[in-house]
Amino acid sequence: MNEIKGRVINVSNRLPVLIRKYAGGARLERSSGGLATALEAGWRDQPGVWIGWAGTGPDENIEPLLLRAAHRRSYTLRSVALTEEETAKFYSGFANEIIWPLFHDMPSRCNFDPEYWEIYQRVNRKFAKVVAETAQEDDFIWVHDYHLMLTAASLKEAGVRARMGFFLHIPFPSPDVFEKLPWKKPILKSLLEFDVIGFQGDRDRSNFVSCLERLLPEATVERGSPHLLVGLEERRSVVGTFPIGIDFEAFGRDAARPEIAAHAAEIRKRVSDDVLVLGVDRLDYTKGIPERLKSFRLLLRRFPEMRGHITLVQVVVPSREEIPNYKHLRREVELLVSQINGEYTEPGWVPVHYIHRNLGRDELLAYYRAADIGLVTPLKDGMNLVAKEFCAAQIDERGVLIVSEFAGAGPELRSGAIVVNPNDFAEVAQALYDAAHMTAEDKRSRIRLLRQIVKDHNVHRWIRSFLEAIPSSDRTKGGPVGDSWSPPTPSKDRPGQKMPGVALVASALSPPGRPRYAMGKDAKLRVMSSAAGED
Ligand code: ADP
Ligand code: F6P
Repeated sequence: MNEIKGRVINVSNRLPVLIRKYAGGARLERSSGGLATALEAGWRDQPGVWIGWAGTGPDENIEPLLLRAAHRRSYTLRSVALTEEETAKFYSGFANEIIWPLFHDMPSRCNFDPEYWEIYQRVNRKFAKVVAETAQEDDFIWVHDYHLMLTAASLKEAGVRARMGFFLHIPFPSPDVFEKLPWKKPILKSLLEFDVIGFQGDRDRSNFVSCLERLLPEATVERGSPHLLVGLEERRSVVGTFPIGIDFEAFGRDAARPEIAAHAAEIRKRVSDDVLVLGVDRLDYTKGIPERLKSFRLLLRRFPEMRGHITLVQVVVPSREEIPNYKHLRREVELLVSQINGEYTEPGWVPVHYIHRNLGRDELLAYYRAADIGLVTPLKDGMNLVAKEFCAAQIDERGVLIVSEFAGAGPELRSGAIVVNPNDFAEVAQALYDAAHMTAEDKRSRIRLLRQIVKDHNVHRWIRSFLEAIPSSDRTKGGPVGDSWSPPTPSKDRPGQKMPGVALVASALSPPGRPRYAMGKDAKLRVMSSAAGED
């Protein structure tokens, strides 16, 4: 039984809002990134508390702005202030100069500064202190992402007895990569203090288990269905795969608004009335933006007849600008854009339109609707919600998705998308050519299939399936591993059911069946089977 009697307390490095200072004061902005987008959409109308950083330091009085932000939400917002040193060494340093590149299989980009580790531990204790002040025993504490991997241990030291879960929004690397981390064992051990540990994909989960086998051989791993049970000393944790999704209905509904359609038509008129290709990303080296631009350049070289008829709109939201790797990336991207435009622009046609700013939701929806091809080619990505948002917004059923095989969304969407290796510029160029020449009927059947998958694997289902994996408190300690473990009983999914409030959520909702999809010979959607376990 996994009923949550109290509240759900979400804990993430970022709150869904960011307080940005400017000369005349401060204003609220929407946080960018998949975690904030998904959790905010999934948690809409639910009570509870969200604890995180609003981008501000300890001396700032942000309470009035936070209260204003909370006014429009069903849950309370509680901020953790970070000093300048903590922002530099915990957020930019340990989280984004060590864990981010390492977990995305890019160890050569890591800066293993030992001071970062000291501050990472300190800030994890700081977050834990705020959570400890807030949580009661019957609450469920749900910690998100790689910034906060040590919090469960600190919470326990502070005497917190509530059950705790952790979800990793980014990939988990293989043992050969993970073992480069000087602090690998304390991190693994701290993760095993959580009652539930969730990953985006089966590969991430199996990498985690392989790391345990290599680095903590005393841990035991038992295969339940659908999740694993890992034991270490007196503790045990449920370890599962929970692919994140978006609020499909809300995206589709908002994309259908007449003003969005009008804005999309305006974009097409001004940018291109021929093939419009769209890339939307945080400006991050994991997103493969230079590689994408080089692929687009190759397309223009290899297929001269496409010149003047295909336009790439690349939207990037500025991100982590204090970190040297990100500064270099911006220069590299801007140089490539200007080289391509310098080489190929003709009167009436500019090959690459480059937008470097955070778009409002309506503007983003208009771009999704205007696009003929969604080009989502990260070198590595936990999931990639842009791919799913593009599908959801395709209410006209005419867009083609090209997606990287190295995004979490790649395997999930492979049956309707064109799947590419982003390092293979010729393959990406060919995929663009093929997508531009695809028949309307082929496009329609593919995007229908994709929209069905995105609709099924939505953010509400992600939340439900994670909360349902929480074991009852007596199952997480004592006794030999497996003695008291039994897998959650499957029940029928109830799509569209409104969550009855966090206190009831886990007991009232069902585990996800995972339908399998395939394109039939006639390219029509077939749902092959429905299985509650792993693929
Ligand atoms: P990540 O979490 O690594 O940033 P995701 O693709 O999972 O990657 O999520 C990115 C989120 O940020 C999406 O919800 C997307 O809509 C949003 N986003 C990306 N670029 C922009 C932009 N320029 N303006 C507004 N939102 C953006
Ligand atoms: O979704 C992955 C993620 O790393 C989140 O954890 C993070 O909040 C987001 O991308 C955006 O990054 P940042 O918080 O560094 O701006």
